[in-house]
Amino acid sequence: MFKIVKKKELNPTVTLMEIEAPLVAKKAEPGQFIILRADAAGERIPLTIADFDRDKGTVTIIYQIVGATTKHLNSLNVGDSLTDFVGPLGQATHTEGLKKVAVVGGGVGCAIAYPVTKKLHNLGCEVHAIVGFRSKDLLILEDEFRAASNKLVIMSDDGSVGEKGLVTDALKKLIDSGEQYDEVIAIGPLVMMKFVAKLTKEYGIKTVVSMNPIMIDGTGMCGGCRLSVGGEMKFACVDGPDFDGHLVDFDEAMERASMYKDFEKHAYDAECN
Ligand code: FES
Repeated sequence: MFKIVKKKELNPTVTLMEIEAPLVAKKAEPGQFIILRADAAGERIPLTIADFDRDKGTVTIIYQIVGATTKHLNSLNVGDSLTDFVGPLGQATHTEGLKKVAVVGGGVGCAIAYPVTKKLHNLGCEVHAIVGFRSKDLLILEDEFRAASNKLVIMSDDGSVGEKGLVTDALKKLIDSGEQYDEVIAIGPLVMMKFVAKLTKEYGIKTVVSMNPIMIDGTGMCGGCRLSVGGEMKFACVDGPDFDGHLVDFDEAMERASMYKDFEKHAYDAECN
């Protein structure tokens, strides 16, 4: 069993939990993920590792309450335990040798963008973080990003925090002002990553995106997480979750992501209403 040692509401729909999982914490790296089951009858859900503490033996996860399983997870409190907490899974984000990087995070994707930002910053890389939210009440991890980056740009759809506009507007402005990045790392909604990759392709800047498709086993066996990357089939759970953003077929990924919407709604209505 994996005990919850901390629970904090980051905004009305996003929660942080710190879980006692010493073996996972020992090997975890930014970019990797875990698969958890809240209880024995629960659905398996993949969540990216938002932080870890090897000394304390804990792993931090951040999740958005979007369906039946995350609603159930959110009903648990400090002192309760999760039945399964498997990981670290997937490949760690490549950070070696990078001197200047723009990390672009959107919404709850910022939970994944943050550990990558922190690691690059700790390695001495100059990091510009661009984070986007729909509005001020959905903003998360502002202090953490400020501490782990050389420049932080906050964007919001309605202008209630930071500048009004899209993360791609901010990235374009920085590039046009002369900033030269070795790489752009984008993590957020598929449509956001698609348009970040489209923009950086025009400028010829290498771009890595973190894909988070539906996963079941997380070990390359079920094929549920398959993606088309450069015309080849890849499994996000073992080949990723990071991929070359200029090669990912985002339209196919978006179509696959919407396939189970009716089932998800049915499960939510049955269990939560
Ligand atoms: Fe099953 Fe990736 S989750 S192959």
